[in-house]
Amino acid sequence: MQMIPLGPSGLMVSRIGLGCEVLGGADWGPVDADLALRAVPASLEHGINLFETADVYGLGRSEELLSIALGSYRNRVAIASKFGLRGELIPGETRARITRDCSARWVMAAVEQSLRRLKLESIPIYIVHWPDPATPIAETIAALDGCRRAGKIRCIGVSNFSASEIREAHQVTALDVVEVPYSLLDRRCETEILPLCQELNIRVLAYGPLGQGLLTGKYGPAHQFESNDRRGRLPQFRGDLFPENFQIVHRLHEIGLQYEISPSQLAIRWVLDHPGVSAVIVGAKSPGHVKENAGALGFTLASSDYHYLANGQRGPAASEQQSSYASSIT
Ligand SMILES: NC(=O)c1ccc[n+]([C@@H]2O[C@H](COP(=O)([O-])OP(=O)(O)OC[C@H]3O[C@@H](n4cnc5c(N)ncnc54)[C@H](OP(=O)(O)O)[C@@H]3O)[C@@H](O)[C@H]2O)c1
Repeated sequence: MQMIPLGPSGLMVSRIGLGCEVLGGADWGPVDADLALRAVPASLEHGINLFETADVYGLGRSEELLSIALGSYRNRVAIASKFGLRGELIPGETRARITRDCSARWVMAAVEQSLRRLKLESIPIYIVHWPDPATPIAETIAALDGCRRAGKIRCIGVSNFSASEIREAHQVTALDVVEVPYSLLDRRCETEILPLCQELNIRVLAYGPLGQGLLTGKYGPAHQFESNDRRGRLPQFRGDLFPENFQIVHRLHEIGLQYEISPSQLAIRWVLDHPGVSAVIVGAKSPGHVKENAGALGFTLASSDYHYLANGQRGPAASEQQSSYASSIT
């Protein structure tokens, strides 16, 4: 596993991280809870030490189960948790009602609750889940800085922030991490956010590299998701976008055959090979998923194939030229 340092404390994290949202059990379709839990020790076996969760996933359940599944390893790995979405169960409603709250007061309460659920004395990476329009960014980041000084967290991050919001937050105190959605299906961060983070020397964690499963190649246009699976409501799975998205899936199959790897491994590798990406956060529902996804680092992707996956055209570089970034990291 390739490792990278993160933040001034020198925390080392694996370039592939496990996304633990499914441990919360909500809105992700059928999940075998036992298999999903076993993905955690399987990750350790494959050298993964970055585990990403949030207090809102299953209203705390994901944090609790992650801590149980890690056992004594919880103090030795890099857990990243997020706050700022408050979930509330409303009688008669099937899904929790979510409101944004990044006020200083809630930062203090949320960090204590996550520490308790995770059974930690300090959270290695603590991330604002989404910006809260009702709270000044400076208030949130100053409160996080206070938590860091008090030793309750080690690295500060923001997620789903625009480039200007990242810049504003970074002026309050240096951000260690920015988390963004990034995959062959969602490349919005390429224009502003990735270059900005490179300029400001902020590590980027890219979530959803498999396009919520679409890029694994196992879902066709006729697939019907269950009502408890949000993918039935996500735009990339909509019928009218399928033809375009399937061209990408087709290219993943085509190039994957050459390297004898799966579309999933190639989709993850494509994200990791962007020079602005430090690590990916991949969701997994079983040890088998983890094993396959960890294989994304087991080969070198030629530059021309990297461009072909992105654009359907061969890039300017010669096919034997290797994509540069991954090979320069130990
Ligand atoms: N910061 C944020 O706002 C934010 C937002 C969303 C997610 N996240 C984090 O990012 C993580 C990853 O995002 P995501 O789970 O939405 O998307 P993803 O990583 O693109 O897709 C994960 C899903 O793909 C399928 N899958 C994974 N590996 C596979 C394999 N090798 N073969 C076949 N299928 C495979 C599984 O679902 P199926 O088997 O059911 O297809 C899995 O749940 C989440 O767990 C969460 O921790 C953060």
